[in-house]
Amino acid sequence: MKKINVVGLGTGNIDYLTGAGIKCIKSADIVIGGERQLEDISSLLNLSQEKYILKKLSDTVEYVQEKISEKEITVVVSGDTGFYSFLNYLKKTVHNGVFNVVPGISSFQYLFAKLGETWEHYNLYSVHGREIDIPEALKNSTAGIILLTDDKNSPYYIGRILIKNNFSNIKMIVGERLSYPDEKITEFYARDIEEHKRDYKMNVLILKKEK
Ligand SMILES: C[S@@+](CC[C@H](N)C(=O)[O-])C[C@H]1O[C@@H](n2cnc3c(N)ncnc32)[C@H](O)[C@@H]1O
Repeated sequence: MKKINVVGLGTGNIDYLTGAGIKCIKSADIVIGGERQLEDISSLLNLSQEKYILKKLSDTVEYVQEKISEKEITVVVSGDTGFYSFLNYLKKTVHNGVFNVVPGISSFQYLFAKLGETWEHYNLYSVHGREIDIPEALKNSTAGIILLTDDKNSPYYIGRILIKNNFSNIKMIVGERLSYPDEKITEFYARDIEEHKRDYKMNVLILKKEK
């Protein structure tokens, strides 16, 4: 039985990928990841490695199960392995896998670093394909909350929820396509959300309570 490496790629630009992660990618017989992730690490891959684009989770697990006895597999995930990644699903569904998990820099950690701020007093959530009660989460937080978003739960949609629930003084900090050449970081107050109505690219959102 060979091992399955699960590697957190960081935000996308390989300058933010760990040395341990790079070793696992280079040594693997098979590298599995989303299309964007495999593109991000294309300069680390070689022709003899098999590349498998992750689409349907159950198909990917079937593929891993088929190959695991003779091949070393590295699965790459965005950001950190411990924050809304494929890791839990893999561990539950791949039988007899020996896992080697290599963490990465999460999108929110990168954004806080860019702002030169710390995040220990924030609560972490995801509204990427899921719902949470944002006003309640804000009430229960000290400094504010951090949200992984998606196309539906966009900064504009969330800003409107804030206005409706009397949180217009919350500062919204949006980090789009972090670490890529077109990275964009925007800060504004929820009360000004109508001025910031637009399509947002892949982003992480900080809702900051100001003193
Ligand atoms: C499936 S979750 C994975 C989160 C990841 N494990 C992490 O630690 O950041 C995908 C979400 O992460 C955020 N994300 C990942 N990479 C990003 C980047 N480079 N820039 C902005 N947001 C990013 C977005 O909110 C995206 O919808």
